Amino acid sequence: MDHYEEMSQWYIDLLGAEVVHKTANITFLRYDEEHHRIAIFASPQHVPKTKGVLNAEVDHLAFSYATLTELAQVYTSLKSKAWEPVWTINHGPTTSIYYRDPDGNKVELQVDNFDTKEGADAFMKGPLFSMNPIGTEIDADVWAAEILAKVRPSGEEGLNDEEVKRIKKRREIGERYSLPDNTV
Ligand SMILES: [Fe+2]
Repeated sequence: MDHYEEMSQWYIDLLGAEVVHKTANITFLRYDEEHHRIAIFASPQHVPKTKGVLNAEVDHLAFSYATLTELAQVYTSLKSKAWEPVWTINHGPTTSIYYRDPDGNKVELQVDNFDTKEGADAFMKGPLFSMNPIGTEIDADVWAAEILAKVRPSGEEGLNDEEVKRIKKRREIGERYSLPDNTV
């Protein structure tokens, strides 16, 4: 792997993670009560991905935030460090912001759009998701500005339930079955 240091730092920055253990070729990171969440390993057997080739591989990892405000704060903080997402989308069940790590892997930062698993299940089994299982793009700057305009001085969410519901509701655009080229 030719991005060992970059990859470690990228995940530290993305997740506000801390290093649990680091050697010349392996790093363990955590961001909560788990002993580790991410392991980055640079093995001599690994070869860098070939540029311009679409590998068959895991599509993405996802990390969830509890509130719109938390996700908007992360988005804004990363943006202030010139991090640009590759995709900002309301999937229906989640509102999601995707980035690519230095190796090109996609990482999704998301917030659930439904309060309950049953609510999300019902949407995903319903007609709107059949017609559009991909989602509808959001303008993340507009989205974050509206959310953060209401944030409390403590940093906690200042939106009321109705505002949360409205902001999380997917805009319907009819049939859609394909991903944007840059996210494949
Ligand atoms: Fe996902």
